[in-house]
Amino acid sequence: MRETSIEEAVGRKYPEWVTLVVSGDGAGQVNAMPAGWVTFTSIDPVMLAVSVGHERYTYQLMENSAEFVVTFPSSEQKKDVYYCGNNSGADVDKFSKTSLRTEEPSVVSVPLIKESVVCFECEKRGELVTGDHTIFSGEIVAAHVSEEKMEKIYTVKGWHEKGQAGFQTVEEMVRDGGSN
Ligand SMILES: Cc1cc2nc3c(=O)[nH]c(=O)nc-3n(C[C@H](O)[C@H](O)[C@H](O)COP(=O)(O)O)c2cc1C
Repeated sequence: MRETSIEEAVGRKYPEWVTLVVSGDGAGQVNAMPAGWVTFTSIDPVMLAVSVGHERYTYQLMENSAEFVVTFPSSEQKKDVYYCGNNSGADVDKFSKTSLRTEEPSVVSVPLIKESVVCFECEKRGELVTGDHTIFSGEIVAAHVSEEKMEKIYTVKGWHEKGQAGFQTVEEMVRDGGSN
């Protein structure tokens, strides 16, 4: 093994899946934030966790809400995911600036995003501060899948510089031989 910088070593985690975390203020305002730092944490009940930076508008919303939704966007949603990751809901209404459309949830009051590969409705169960992010733990109380949209998107190394081209499907990663 060669000792290296933490930055170089962390770069080897890619590809990383991309989710969209949907949160709301309870008074009708809804926001969507791309998050790679989402993981499943429990089988019974099925739970997941998302790590949210303290500067994000999503952090304010999730701090003050007991519910959130995690979606896996489809490959057709790359452009909108890119927009949501480069703008803050504190400044813009992302749903009026993108083609993302909401859909009624079953249990929580935060909406689903239409044409996602999958959406999970979550009830917040806990929080843990980790440095400049907070991990929000959620129990999945309802789930929805698309019958048509199957291709999730991943970030490949260097996505910050590559813009939308930094988001790829598994098929695109295989085609490019991991060179992106
Ligand atoms: C692919 C991708 C993954 C991201 N993953 C995370 C993440 O896991 N946690 C986080 O706090 N921010 C993450 N971000 C950054 C936020 O999405 C970004 O700062 C966003 O503009 C915050 O929006 P908001 O202020 O409306 O909440 C990611 C961005 C992109 C594009």
